[in-house]
Amino acid sequence: MSGRRALIVGASRGLGLGLVRRFLERGWDVTATVRTPSAALTDLVNAGPLRIVTGIDIDDDAAVAGLKRSCTDRPAFDVVFVVAGVATQAGIPAGQMPRDVATAIYQTNALSPIRLAEAFHRCIAEDGLIVLMTSKLGSVSLNRGGGWGSYRASKAALNTLARSFAGQHSGARWGVLLMHPGWVRTDLGGRRATLDVDTSVRGTVAVVEDQRGLRGCRFLDYTGATVPW
Ligand SMILES: NC(=O)c1ccc[n+]([C@@H]2O[C@H](COP(=O)([O-])OP(=O)(O)OC[C@H]3O[C@@H](n4cnc5c(N)ncnc54)[C@H](OP(=O)(O)O)[C@@H]3O)[C@@H](O)[C@H]2O)c1
Repeated sequence: MSGRRALIVGASRGLGLGLVRRFLERGWDVTATVRTPSAALTDLVNAGPLRIVTGIDIDDDAAVAGLKRSCTDRPAFDVVFVVAGVATQAGIPAGQMPRDVATAIYQTNALSPIRLAEAFHRCIAEDGLIVLMTSKLGSVSLNRGGGWGSYRASKAALNTLARSFAGQHSGARWGVLLMHPGWVRTDLGGRRATLDVDTSVRGTVAVVEDQRGLRGCRFLDYTGATVPW
C-alpha cells in the first residue's frame, strides 16, 4: 500500500490512534488530526510518514476549512476517515437528557462528520473512500434494548446523512463507507468491551483496503460483514 494517503480525523487516542498506527504499519502516508497535542500520537512519528495537525475540532467549521486549505496543494487522499465521536452521558435516557448535551452529541457524531465529508470530497482520489466511524447501535432494525438512546440516534442520523451524501454525489468516483469497529476497549467503549484496539483496527484497515473502488454507500463492520440499516 506504499504511496497511499490517508487523513485520519480524531487521532489523539482510542481507535483513531490505533488506526494511525495500523495504516503506518501497512505502508500508508498518514495525516492525523487532533484537538490538542497527543503524546501517544507524537510517539508514532518514527513509525512511518506521519503529519500531525493540531487544533482540529470537527465542530469548528473554521478549523475544518483551515485543514482543507492546508491539504489543497498536496496529493489527493485515498481515504478520508472521520473517527472522532462522543458518547456523553450515554446512560441517560434521551427523554431525560439535557437538550444542550443531546444537541452537542448530534453535532459531533452526525452533522460534523458530514460537513467534513462535504468539505473534503474534492480532495479524494479516484477510487478513494470517505469512511465514517459509526456504530451498530445506529442500526434502527437491530435496536431491541434501546439503551444509549441519544448516542444511537446520533449514529442513526449519521448513517442517514451519509446515504444522502452518497446519493447527492452519485456520479462520484469515490465511495462512502460507514464502519462499525466492534465493541472496543477504549475510553468510550469501556473496560467490559469484547475487543482490543489492535484487533479492531487490523480488521478495519483490511476492510478499508478491500473496499477501495466502492461506489455508493455501505454499512460494514470490522470483519467486512454487512450491518443491517
Ligand atoms: N469503542 C467502541 O466500542 C466503539 C464502538 C462503535 C463505534 N465507536 C466509534 O468510534 C469512534 C472512536 O471512538 P473511541 O472508542 O476511540 O473513543 P475515545 O477513545 O473516547 O476517542 C474519541 C476520539 O474522538 C475525538 N473527538 C471527540 N470529539 C471531537 C471533536 N469535536 N473534534 C475532534 N475530535 C473529537 C477525541 O479527541 P480528544 O482526545 O480531543 O477528546 C478522541 O480522539 C467514535 O466515533 C465512536 O462513536 C466506538
